[in-house]
Amino acid sequence: MSEKLWGGRFSLGTDELVEEFNASIDVDKRLYTSDIEGSIAHVKMMANESIILQDEAKTLIFGLEEVRKKIENNEITFSASLEDIHMHIEDALGKVVGDVGKKLHTGRSRNDQVALDVRIYLKKETRIIIDLLTGFQKSLVRMAQNHQDVIMPGYTHLQRAQPVLFSHHMMAYYEMFKRDIDRFEDCFKRIDVMPLGAAALAGTTYPLNREFTRQVLSFAKVSDNSIDSVSDRDFVMEFISHASIAMIHFSRLSEEMVLWSSSEFSFISISDAFTTGSSIMPQKKNPDVAELVRGKTGRVLGNLITILTLMKSLPLAYNKDMQEDKEPLFDTVDTLKICTDVYTRMFGNITIHKDRMYAACTKGFLNATDLADYLVSKGMTFRKAHSISGKAVALCLDQGKELNDMTIEEFKTLSELIEKDVYGFIEIDKMISRRISYGGTGYDNVRKAVLKAAGELGLK
Ligand code: ARG
Repeated sequence: MSEKLWGGRFSLGTDELVEEFNASIDVDKRLYTSDIEGSIAHVKMMANESIILQDEAKTLIFGLEEVRKKIENNEITFSASLEDIHMHIEDALGKVVGDVGKKLHTGRSRNDQVALDVRIYLKKETRIIIDLLTGFQKSLVRMAQNHQDVIMPGYTHLQRAQPVLFSHHMMAYYEMFKRDIDRFEDCFKRIDVMPLGAAALAGTTYPLNREFTRQVLSFAKVSDNSIDSVSDRDFVMEFISHASIAMIHFSRLSEEMVLWSSSEFSFISISDAFTTGSSIMPQKKNPDVAELVRGKTGRVLGNLITILTLMKSLPLAYNKDMQEDKEPLFDTVDTLKICTDVYTRMFGNITIHKDRMYAACTKGFLNATDLADYLVSKGMTFRKAHSISGKAVALCLDQGKELNDMTIEEFKTLSELIEKDVYGFIEIDKMISRRISYGGTGYDNVRKAVLKAAGELGLK
C-alpha cells in the first residue's frame, strides 16, 4: 500500500476495492499535457510573486518537462493507488527533482487544478472540432457546386412534395453545420475562463497573481468567484449539448444517405471504400459509415444525459461526483471528431444519379401546387385553386396518370381558366425557376447562396 499524498490524517490504508473504485487515472491520463502546462504556469507565477525561489522554479519546470517525456515514452506506470493524473504527475515529479517537487502544490488544490486542466483540454479540442466541421462544410459546398442544377424531389413527411435543387438540399445542411459552429464558438467564450487560484473553494492565503497565470496560459479572463470556479461544469454541459445537436444533424444526413443509396431510391452510390459487404449475401453493399454515425449519435445523447444528471442537485462546491464528467466529455469529443472526419472523406466518394432524381420528380404530382399557382395567376383565389388542383390529382389517380398527361378538355371540365399554357407552367424546370422568394430553390437564389458560402469558406 503506497502512502497517499493526502494520507496525513489517516491511520488505516485505503481498502483495495475502494482504491480501484476511487481512481480515475484510466480516464483522466489523457489530461497529462494540460496538467503539465497548467503546473508550469503556476510555477512561473509563484516565482514571479516570490512564493518560491527562481532556482526552485527552474528545477520544477525542468522536472515537469522530464515527466512529460517519461509519460510520452511510456516510462510511467499508471496505478490506481495514485488515483488520478494530478497525483501521478506530482509523484513522478518528486522522483525526478526530489523534495522541491513538494512545493508545486502550494496555493493550489486538485479542485481548481482539474477545472483548469479540463478547460485547457477543451479549448484545444473545440478549435479542432470547429476546423473539422468547417472542413465538412467545404465538402457540402463542393457537392453543391459540382451538381449545381441537379433536380431532386423535395420531401415533407417523406412523401414527394415539390422539386428542389439537389444543391439547395446540400446547402440546408451547410446552414445546420454553420449554426453548430456558431454554437461552439459561443461556448468557447465560457470555456476560456481561468479558474486556477480558487484552490479548494475559498481562494488561498498565498499572494497568487491570477492575472499572471491567465496570461501565461492565454485565457481570455480569470474566473470571478472561487466557489463557482471549482463547481462550474456548465461549459461541459454546454459543449456536450452542442455536440449532441451536431450529431443529430449528422444522423439526419445519415438517414438520407441510407435511404438514397437503397435500390428503392438509387439517388446516390457510395464508393466501395466507404461501404461494406455482407458475410452471407454476396450482392450486398451496405452504407455502414452512415449507419454507424447514426448509431453513434445515441452515445453522445447518452453522454448529455449523463453530464446533466451528474450535475443536477450537486451542492456547491466540488463533489467527487464531478470526477465522472470526463468519460462523457472525452467520448463526446472523440465521437464527434471521428464522425466529422469520416463524413468529410465519404462525401468526396459519393456518385449522384441525377437521372434517377429527376425521374422521381415526374411521378407523384409534385406539380400540384404549381397547378394551383397557375390558377391564381389567372385570377382565382388560392384556396379555390387548391381545391381544383386536388380534384385534378384525384382524376389522375383514377386513371393512373400524371397531371401533365391530362388533356386540355379534361382540364377545362375543372376550370375554364385553364389554357394550353398550363403544360409549360407545370414543367419541373419551370417550377424551380419560379421559386424566386429569398431563400427558395430558384436557380439564381441557390447559385448566390453557394457562391456566398464558398466565399465564407475561402473556396473558389
Ligand atoms: N480526480 C479528481 C476529479 O477528476 C480530481 C479532483 C479531486 N479533488 C478532490 N478533492 N478529491 O474530479
